[in-house]
Amino acid sequence: MLSRPFVAELQFGLELPAHAAAIESIAAEAFGPGRHARAAARVREMAPHAPDLSFVACLNGEVIGSVRQTPVRIGDRPALMLGPLAVRPQFKSLGIGRALMKMAAEAAAAAGEEVIFLVGDRAYYVPLGYAPVPPGSIDMPGPVDPARILALPLVPGAQAGLTGRVAAR
Ligand SMILES: CC(C)(COP(=O)(O)OP(=O)(O)OC[C@H]1O[C@@H](n2cnc3c(N)ncnc32)[C@H](O)[C@@H]1OP(=O)(O)O)[C@@H](O)C(=O)NCCC(=O)NCCS
Repeated sequence: MLSRPFVAELQFGLELPAHAAAIESIAAEAFGPGRHARAAARVREMAPHAPDLSFVACLNGEVIGSVRQTPVRIGDRPALMLGPLAVRPQFKSLGIGRALMKMAAEAAAAAGEEVIFLVGDRAYYVPLGYAPVPPGSIDMPGPVDPARILALPLVPGAQAGLTGRVAAR
């Protein structure tokens, strides 16, 4: 992992305001024009992401990967919604996505958050500790495949009984 020559210039850090345009460009490249219609995007329209829980990977100062986390509630339970996670195509499969996911989970746990959820591919996220939630338990404001809603407990059992509408805190 992370074994190519440029890795010495690869830096991870918190998202800063100056990164916003590059992050938007990476998301556009990764998810295309339909991204704004996704249920997760609708949640992010209601609730701002938390820069202190969101991270970038920079190569020579240029953002090449990003993960954001948004504080929300599910019913009356606080939770973080993770996403988007994206890495520039030419830098895939170097472990950058996994490293961003690890930083996000560690920062969330340090901030006292109890659970993270996301909409994504099981094959990528289950090895990172995420597990599917019971279909229908998390109600998102927009079309979503329930089988793709996954959660990561940061304290034991925190994913249990996670039920209700996703809304701003
Ligand atoms: C998903 C993504 C963020 C992974 O970033 P990355 O830096 O390449 O991730 P890592 O290097 O940590 O992991 C790469 C591994 O994950 C696998 N992988 C990538 N996307 C995957 C997916 N959707 N499902 C299953 N496995 C996936 C790769 O095949 C690779 O496997 P390998 O290590 O055996 O080669 C990146 O591919 C991306 O930006 N994709 C487009 C946007 C996207 O799909 N975001 C996630 C929403 S589900």
